[in-house]
Amino acid sequence: MDAAPNPRRRIVVGVTGGIAAYKAVQVVRELVLAGHDVHVVATEAALRFVGAPTFEAISRNRIETDLYEGVAEVRHVALGQSADVIVIAPATANTIARLAAGLADDLLTNTVLASRAPLVLAPAMHTEMWQNPATVANVATLRERGAVIVGPATGQLTGNDSGPGRMEEPEVIVAATLQAAGAASSLATVQDFSGRRVVITAGGTREPLDPVRFLGNRSSGRQGVALASAARNRGADVVLITAHLEVEPPDGVSLVPVGTALELQVAVTDAAASADLVIMAAAVADYRPERTSDAKIKKGQAHEGLSLELVQNPDILADLAAHRSPGVTLVGFAAETEPDDERLIETARQKLRRKGCDYLVLNRVGWSTGFASERNEVMMLDSAGDIVMTAAGAKDSVADRILDRLA
Ligand code: C5P
Repeated sequence: MDAAPNPRRRIVVGVTGGIAAYKAVQVVRELVLAGHDVHVVATEAALRFVGAPTFEAISRNRIETDLYEGVAEVRHVALGQSADVIVIAPATANTIARLAAGLADDLLTNTVLASRAPLVLAPAMHTEMWQNPATVANVATLRERGAVIVGPATGQLTGNDSGPGRMEEPEVIVAATLQAAGAASSLATVQDFSGRRVVITAGGTREPLDPVRFLGNRSSGRQGVALASAARNRGADVVLITAHLEVEPPDGVSLVPVGTALELQVAVTDAAASADLVIMAAAVADYRPERTSDAKIKKGQAHEGLSLELVQNPDILADLAAHRSPGVTLVGFAAETEPDDERLIETARQKLRRKGCDYLVLNRVGWSTGFASERNEVMMLDSAGDIVMTAAGAKDSVADRILDRLA
């Protein structure tokens, strides 16, 4: 384990006007307690929810709100330029729209525009606002520019409503902020999977035709391996069931190598019996050759081409879900080629219903997207078919976002 101390970072915490502003106090507190230099920039509306003295006492710095204060020191530029990371929690629909448009009509938006630091946003709003096409487009624009979007979570909102739109929990926002600032050392990694038994499948199965040939797929195993490393770093006991991998599996996890879908089924069913969480990231062959030839199939054995008879493999995830032990959470992956989002999500919802798992992580694949890449772009759906998380970036950080959701 890396024993290096967590490096001190200068962090700007933007707070905008939503009821979740009270949870921003906890974000500030955790960042300060982790040893960082935290400067709160609040909008006028934010201060209607939580008073300036609270933020000043907790951040141990004076709170910044007014664009026209400290003009001689060009404060709005100084704050943005000196920040190692800017996190806005809560980020209202209005502020997200202002940021997407590049407006600079208060100190916070000025600070963001004047900064080259990574930007982390924790949206909080009612479900209708979050799903409004204007907000969807604004979030997509900001994500394209590199902003890290944390949440929102699904749950109780203001009043009697509930659904997607609730601000992510402070510890998740803090972890994402430190990661964006490059300040997350393994010592600082939250041990939120401590004592949990996590089973992960990774890679692509290979179904032999004869001693030298197989039916396979293009899965590299990178996302499953990244999940295994992330779960281990967060304190989990990890069993990693490896079909064919193009990357090295991590240290510190129990490895169970398998070849075919049927071997994977035996291994995962066995390991799942005592697991808290099973993540099926492996690309499992839906079909296998009916017969495997003991000798190499020779050219010319058949005159006009060769026909293969295939039989269907069991759906391992669906079987696990049908015979699940109480308390186990099952996560499936779906790699789909649908070009447009609506059809992609509809396919995922049908798959969720068919498989009966608790979450489905969905990504688009194609000839040039998905497999060999170090990056991934995913949506995570819960068993109701609601999108509970979206993430884009290195497979390592996508793995952490998936685990944040599951934690
Ligand atoms: O049906 P599809 O292959 O798209 O489903 C993908 C998910 O189901 C993945 O989580 C994969 O590991 C799992 N799967 C399975 N058994 C199969 C095929 C896929 O458990 N035969």
